[in-house]
Amino acid sequence: MTRIAIYPGSFDPVTNGHIDILKRGLTLFDRIIVAILHNPAKKVLFSIDERIEMLKTSLADVENIEIDTFDGLLVDYAAQRKAIAILRGMRAVSDFEYEFQLALMNRRLNRRVQTVFLMTGLRWIFTSSSIIKEAARFGGNINGMVPPIVNRKLKEKFGSKNADPPRRQA
Ligand code: PNS
Repeated sequence: MTRIAIYPGSFDPVTNGHIDILKRGLTLFDRIIVAILHNPAKKVLFSIDERIEMLKTSLADVENIEIDTFDGLLVDYAAQRKAIAILRGMRAVSDFEYEFQLALMNRRLNRRVQTVFLMTGLRWIFTSSSIIKEAARFGGNINGMVPPIVNRKLKEKFGSKNADPPRRQA
């Protein structure tokens, strides 16, 4: 039996923390489907096509993965893809409450799909897509926190803002 896991998320954009969790997940599962939530109601920076492109480029050398999108309930998608587990990364305590709720609701909805958590690597403990976008928006250095294609795309998005002249001192 091929043991398939779903690694779901917004991936807006993918970070090196995500890639670390995915690669470590591959030591537990035969195949992992990276599933991008396609929710038009959610405010995102990157379009679904951009997020797919960034994931595909960043994971070009990683075997036994697939990149897909889903909408609706995650457990329904997991069942449809014959996955036995949902893979999630956990960072600091602040992640716990939300992840706990998500895992319990998913379990209530479908008891056959298990949620598996991997603790983030220490290097990535403060890495999140939101904080990276915030830093990039104001021209902060995010080298080493995201794959090169993501760094480039963030610069494209925020380039003009970074080029603003510095404020005059009073
Ligand atoms: O990267 P994120 O934003 O933390 O990922 C959240 C995600 C996509 C895992 C979650 O929002 C999700 O699964 N959404 C689909 C709807 C669903 O099944 N929600 C949980 C049960 S109500």
